[in-house]
Amino acid sequence: MGKKNKEPQVCFLPEGMRGPVAPGTRVDRAARNLGVDLQSVCGGHGKCGKCRIRLLNSAGAGQSVAALSPPTKQEAAFLSEEELREGWRLACQSRVLSNAAFEVPKESRSGLQLIRKQPGPKCVTPDPAVRSQTVKMPAADPTSPSSDWKRLAGQIAAGAGKNCLYPDAAMLKTLPETLGSGREVAAVLRKDGECIGLLAPTGRALTGVALDIGTTTLAAYLCDLYTGEVLATAAEVNPQISCGEDVISRIAYAAAEKAGRKELQHLVVKTVNRMIASACAQAGIAADSVADMTCVANTCMHHLFLGIDPAGLGRSPFAPVVTRGLDLKARDLGIQIAPGAYIHMLPAVSAFVGADTVGVMLAVDVYPAKETVLIIDVGTNGEIVLASGDRLVCASCATGSALEGATLSCGMRAATGAVERVRIEPETLAVEYAVIGSVGDKHAPAAGICGSGVIDAVSQMFTAGIMKKNGNLDRRCLAPRLKRNGNDVVFVVVPAEETAGGRDIVIDQDDIRAVQMAKGAIHAGVRLLMAETGARSVDRVVLAGAFGSVIDPVSALSIGLFPEVPPEKVSTAGNAAGDGARLALLSLTMRRRAAVLADKMETLELTAHPNFQREFAMAMHFPHMRPRHPGTR
Ligand code: FES
Repeated sequence: MGKKNKEPQVCFLPEGMRGPVAPGTRVDRAARNLGVDLQSVCGGHGKCGKCRIRLLNSAGAGQSVAALSPPTKQEAAFLSEEELREGWRLACQSRVLSNAAFEVPKESRSGLQLIRKQPGPKCVTPDPAVRSQTVKMPAADPTSPSSDWKRLAGQIAAGAGKNCLYPDAAMLKTLPETLGSGREVAAVLRKDGECIGLLAPTGRALTGVALDIGTTTLAAYLCDLYTGEVLATAAEVNPQISCGEDVISRIAYAAAEKAGRKELQHLVVKTVNRMIASACAQAGIAADSVADMTCVANTCMHHLFLGIDPAGLGRSPFAPVVTRGLDLKARDLGIQIAPGAYIHMLPAVSAFVGADTVGVMLAVDVYPAKETVLIIDVGTNGEIVLASGDRLVCASCATGSALEGATLSCGMRAATGAVERVRIEPETLAVEYAVIGSVGDKHAPAAGICGSGVIDAVSQMFTAGIMKKNGNLDRRCLAPRLKRNGNDVVFVVVPAEETAGGRDIVIDQDDIRAVQMAKGAIHAGVRLLMAETGARSVDRVVLAGAFGSVIDPVSALSIGLFPEVPPEKVSTAGNAAGDGARLALLSLTMRRRAAVLADKMETLELTAHPNFQREFAMAMHFPHMRPRHPGTR
């Protein structure tokens, strides 16, 4: 590394990404600036221990003190003395003082996550917001000069019998060159008469992009606006994750960091443009011919995408800046599609129930409900909607990230190396597990446990009697996998010799508590929604979201994630939020329906509800205290 530069040089391996940083820069920020994938589950507050990196001797032999700031109290809580001696540090706690190279281990990365965002089969009769009309521009008449736009509008009106036309300002800039050539052009028109662009008349259909901005992942669907066909998809991890895993951390980041809000917007816009370019390349079309776009997001992601201050979402009275549907010029947000094209932002309901939930409701199409249907979308937060007759009552549950796995002691997101299925043999208490990325009988080395694995493990521990109804591990139980860890007892899901990192993958008492809190919040929320609508039981459960697609319904039922229904009445809806964005892209009728649904959805504020604490306390038990569950011991 060059020593002529005054600024220290850093290098992240194995990619070898390197560059100069100002002295005192936090290692996680240096990594982010260089585009290195590094987890930031707690938003860089030293509370999760997931941003482990190792200072390599080769870059600064004997420099572990000189190259980085001294270890903080938070690091001492997560790293043993031996690990510190070996160079292990928390990236968010250490600051660069001089040249340094780091190893970023697999388990500290977020980008390996499986992104399960395939479009669903649901379709709709296309009724898009834009259409194209091929016109041939007459040459200017020297005896009766009229403007280019007037002549173009005259041609469009003659062909379509529509004369209340008006031009987009950016389209006008392209007009002289395009029309001067005397070629035929395809004028792209919105329903209200705005001409938003001129394309070469290729005979191909108009295309649009439906975008789903999740807290963790982003998905884009490039669609043929006339047939509804999905031409290509692209998905990426939301890059804002490096600034905080959940919405609260991101709100804090936007407020605390200089230009934090701008940075968060820039990160997501840059990634969305890359995804659009990738989807267009797959389909063989130019990104600047994409004529329309729709977007769903939770309310915080929605505000950050639009560059709106999300601070109001994080403090009482939790007022969003806007919830209604919006039509905005894509170019104003820096989105690179046809210069005059719009993005339709679907409406949100409240600070905690966003346009993504409205998208889910559009896709699952249960309103008005002939039966009582419970829709659960578990992501980084949990949204629940109870459809009963003419009512749609919804709530957001603070589930934390426990059900996604990331915040647990050995947790990770659903990525290669994550334990996703666990079975405990009731007689012998032997453990079988499945790892993402395994081929045939050959296990991929386990690196951690993801949400579906955790729910399986907790459910199986309960059924096998290793864990009691109150969630305590039963120390009298002779399960060979119960191990003492200081004063605590942990359940070993995968022993050290079978793991990638050479450390046991365990479920400890705190992990069980985190699952208890998350499932307790959802179950209590559902009970309150039932009480609100007068529903005595639930007829059907729809699990939406990537997590809902992989969860084992029987495990979810047996831990009491939701009230009892026969397992065959539990279905999954895949990425229903993204499907909702797709339906709204294809159909103005669907956009109007989204507005009706958002208007119809009544939000129940759970934490302020007088019965919440009582319901929550009862729902904390496994499976829960009321009513009796067939699996209750
Ligand atoms: S401890 Fe560093 S991001 Fe959480």
